Amino acid sequence: MAAYSVVSLILVAMSLKYSRSQLVVNFTLPSTEDYLELYSTSLVHYRNEDYQKTQLYTELALADKRYRDVMLFKCYQRCSDQGSQKSQQLFFLALVNEEKCTRKCMKKLFGQPLQLPLWVIKDFKFRKPYSFLQYSYYQLGDLTSAYEAALINLKYNPDSEMMQGNVKFYSKKVKDKSRMLPHELPDSVDEFNMGVRSYMNHDYETATTHLNQSLSLYIEETKKCKIRCATGYDEYADKKQPDLNDTSTFQDQFVRLYQDVMECRYKCLEKHDKMVPDLSEDYLPKLLNYLQFSAYQIKDIVFAHQIATEYLSLNSGDQTMTNNLKYFTGQLESAPEGYIILRNLIEENRLDMEVLSAIVGKKEMRKRLKDKQNYVLGDMGLVSELNPDKNILWRNSY
Ligand SMILES: *[C@@H]1O[C@H](CO)[C@@H](O)[C@H](O)[C@H]1NC(C)=O
Ligand SMILES: *[C@@H]1O[C@H](CO)[C@@H](O)[C@H](O)[C@H]1NC(C)=O
Ligand SMILES: *[C@@H]1O[C@H](CO)[C@@H](O)[C@H](O)[C@H]1NC(C)=O
Repeated sequence: MAAYSVVSLILVAMSLKYSRSQLVVNFTLPSTEDYLELYSTSLVHYRNEDYQKTQLYTELALADKRYRDVMLFKCYQRCSDQGSQKSQQLFFLALVNEEKCTRKCMKKLFGQPLQLPLWVIKDFKFRKPYSFLQYSYYQLGDLTSAYEAALINLKYNPDSEMMQGNVKFYSKKVKDKSRMLPHELPDSVDEFNMGVRSYMNHDYETATTHLNQSLSLYIEETKKCKIRCATGYDEYADKKQPDLNDTSTFQDQFVRLYQDVMECRYKCLEKHDKMVPDLSEDYLPKLLNYLQFSAYQIKDIVFAHQIATEYLSLNSGDQTMTNNLKYFTGQLESAPEGYIILRNLIEENRLDMEVLSAIVGKKEMRKRLKDKQNYVLGDMGLVSELNPDKNILWRNSY
């Protein structure tokens, strides 16, 4: 290999696009050539022993490369905030420490991570083991336990006709459900459904208890779901390693990997929506909506105020809830403290949406939210409004 060193110097203003006309005296060059093309051309000339052209194209190639490097730095400066380098370092420090510590802790307990085939991951996700369990209990004559197992399986496979049939069968045989083994404790959706049932029966005391429990569970489940998106110990056996030979930039690769994490966290936000059929608004606002009204009914105005406030942070324009909040405020001597863990979660959700929107683009995000709105804007019937005339009665469409 010959060395393509060029001795002659060309003055190029580094931060300005160099003027090719200064250099290209006797050749006309298309102005769009980049250093790959320029360099390739120079090599052709070199092989043809045309050293004048070799010199010229090599200088142009080097100048183009220099110019791009300068502009990269300028772009970076324009795009990064003051102190963003430091916050990036702190972010990674937190990420690395968290990851290493979690792995170490799990390794101490369980040794090497399991390498799981996809079918096992799926079976556990959709609670398939409960399908085998219900049949085994049935064979053993323990119909109560079989019923419980069937109910859990059906909850995760609501379209399974077989399990629907089983549940129907057991429900006729088992009258006393109180002795069921609690394999899985009631989750937020279970408590929500129980709360709504009590609410319909105007038993607001019980409704508040269930809905409050549902909210606590919602906060816990959502947090856990999000954490699972980035951490985990056992691994999918055929998982693809990121291609580290890919010479695209680190930032680019990282953003792509982080997109997967953010998509997963986004799904956590929708998880509960999907588990309650015929919701007229998203799960969390719906839950808060019932809860503020139930709390009001049992005269827990402080709690009703807190919940209505958080509802409005989700649906800021809602006139009925704004009126409700005004009413609650009027009933209290001083504004109560915020419901901090709920507020933090709502803020976390908002940031998740913002990060995902930054990655996939505002247009895509708008599209996703619009798809959702088709049902969000369905029936806004529930919000119970203070009747401004009588000042005590609430319009309640149920
Ligand atoms: C271009 O090349 C011609 C001969 O090929 C030469 O006479 C002329 O001076 C050159 N022009 C410049 C600006 O160097
Ligand atoms: C709601 O639940 C929390 C804990 O889960 C409890 O501290 C609070 O007193 C409950 N509020 C009502 C009104 O039941
Ligand atoms: C990546 O590079 C390593 C070592 O340089 C090599 O062993 C491996 O095969 C490469 N992988 C791919 C996908 O090119």
